[in-house]
Amino acid sequence: SGNKTFTMIKPDAVADGNTGAIIKMIEEAGFKIIAMKKTLLTSERAGEFYAVHKERPFYGDLCKYMSSGPIVPMILEKDNAVTDFRTLIGATNPANADEGTIRKLFAKSIEANAVHGSDSDENAAIEGSFFFSETEKF
Ligand code: CMP
Repeated sequence: SGNKTFTMIKPDAVADGNTGAIIKMIEEAGFKIIAMKKTLLTSERAGEFYAVHKERPFYGDLCKYMSSGPIVPMILEKDNAVTDFRTLIGATNPANADEGTIRKLFAKSIEANAVHGSDSDENAAIEGSFFFSETEKF
């Protein structure tokens, strides 16, 4: 088994009906889905998830946006999961995302950027545990 990363399909992409297309791209890129659900964050819980950004000017808007509709969090497994997943999704700002990446195809803006991807193995573990218990990982 490979190592793991964590992702969420964000409210804009879920609302637009792009959940299936994004999951298809993730599986076709060789990631195995270890855990997945559809859920809704409160603004407080979104703030907890993004606590690392609490001093950033976009933090308030980000918490409001991330609690504006349902999301689809997932734990994914693959060799080099964190790095390969960041390649698959493209740059945070879709204006800078490479052709064929998930954000190039589905993101609307730097905030409503379709998906999250963990930036390290350590954060992948922390973020996965934020949404899933051990009995939900297969
Ligand atoms: P994500 O990779 O989930 O991590 C932090 C999120 O903050 C980012 O995606 C964007 O959705 C959001 N965000 C909004 N504005 C900015 C910004 N100026 N720089 C970085 N992230 C931003």
